[in-house]
Amino acid sequence: MSEEQKSGLVAELQRQIESVGGIPFADFMEQALYHPEHGYYTSGRTRIGKQGDFFTSSSVHSCFGQLIARQLEQMWHLSGQGAFIIAEQGAGEGHLCLDILDALEDKYPEFYACLEYRIVEISAANRRRQEQALQRHFSAGRVTWCEFDDLQGMQGCFVSNELLDAFPIHLIEKHAGKLQEVYVVNRGDGFAEELRPLSVNLIQDYFQRIGIEPAEGNRCEVNLAACDWMERVAAVLERGFVLTVDYGFLAEELHAPFRHAGTFLCYHQHQTSEDPYRRVGCQDMTAHIDFTTLQEVGCQQGLDTLYFGQQYQFLMGLGFLEMLMEMESRETDPKKAQALRMNLKTLILPEGGMGESFKVLVQGKNVGRPELICNKRIRDIAMPT
Ligand SMILES: C[S@@+](CC[C@H](N)C(=O)[O-])C[C@H]1O[C@@H](n2cnc3c(N)ncnc32)[C@H](O)[C@@H]1O
Repeated sequence: MSEEQKSGLVAELQRQIESVGGIPFADFMEQALYHPEHGYYTSGRTRIGKQGDFFTSSSVHSCFGQLIARQLEQMWHLSGQGAFIIAEQGAGEGHLCLDILDALEDKYPEFYACLEYRIVEISAANRRRQEQALQRHFSAGRVTWCEFDDLQGMQGCFVSNELLDAFPIHLIEKHAGKLQEVYVVNRGDGFAEELRPLSVNLIQDYFQRIGIEPAEGNRCEVNLAACDWMERVAAVLERGFVLTVDYGFLAEELHAPFRHAGTFLCYHQHQTSEDPYRRVGCQDMTAHIDFTTLQEVGCQQGLDTLYFGQQYQFLMGLGFLEMLMEMESRETDPKKAQALRMNLKTLILPEGGMGESFKVLVQGKNVGRPELICNKRIRDIAMPT
């Protein structure tokens, strides 16, 4: 995004703020990320991976998508091996979709032949990138784009990776025993924060549902958009599964008293910052997900939790180790073999990797309580020889 466009977004936000005297932080974040022309995700400047601002698991190695493909194939069996929709919302540059479809075409051609992969994508620039990356699968008639509501009545699996952490969040603080919300106001040439009463009652309802409030003086995030999303996903899914990968915690850990400033972070060229008022529209903004609330909202809408665990457990259950050994044994160049190991480790390592902070939630609707292959316990995994 050029400086000119950037200041265009800042000027627009300042006009909006001026006209109403201040906006909840969630509205500011919504514009910074999704303003139709200048938003971080919608402007087209977002790149995922080394050249961009952040990595996602699907941009680290195709192994992530290949393992998810195994889980999807089991879900297809559990669903009777008929027509099956894989819906992915927020598919970024299309890495996950490509890796899943390549793996299914190669290993499970019968499944590949009767599936439809539907992408719901807010960013036109990302749709262009997806079109390029997925050319072959588009030509084979396996992929289409659609609007969320077109998924009504779907049978299959609703997939997302790092979608929910990019939803706008309300920033909440507790002072003198009262919950207050961060509003963004104009100050001088830039922005400043003010604490005001909660903008909507749903925020209070959120804390009541989890039975936890932030500790005195602490700041935290409330992702109402994720609750709304969960309800909408449950509503469109007639029968099948929801597979959600994202970083986050159960509510108790997310709102633990030691987490004084919450989990909100901005990303720019792989550097993190806590300042959302710099590089507005030119940096990513994220916050960790509350997986307790996601599961409870889902449960109220008929979604049973079938699996919840750390990404490393999920990937190990699906055969990560075996895949690593197999790929390594095929690699004749020792340098490339080492690079492969390092890359794959990123997916499962706790510190500095994605293995622990990332969680996987699998929910089911009208499918009973099947034992999923991702649920294989680590002690039951045979060490490859
Ligand atoms: C952090 S990126 C993750 C991309 C991809 N899933 C990956 O793992 O590489 C978030 C993605 O969600 C998309 N997105 C955010 N809100 C959306 C919405 N309401 N509907 C569809 N896509 C959305 C963004 O455009 C972006 O592609």
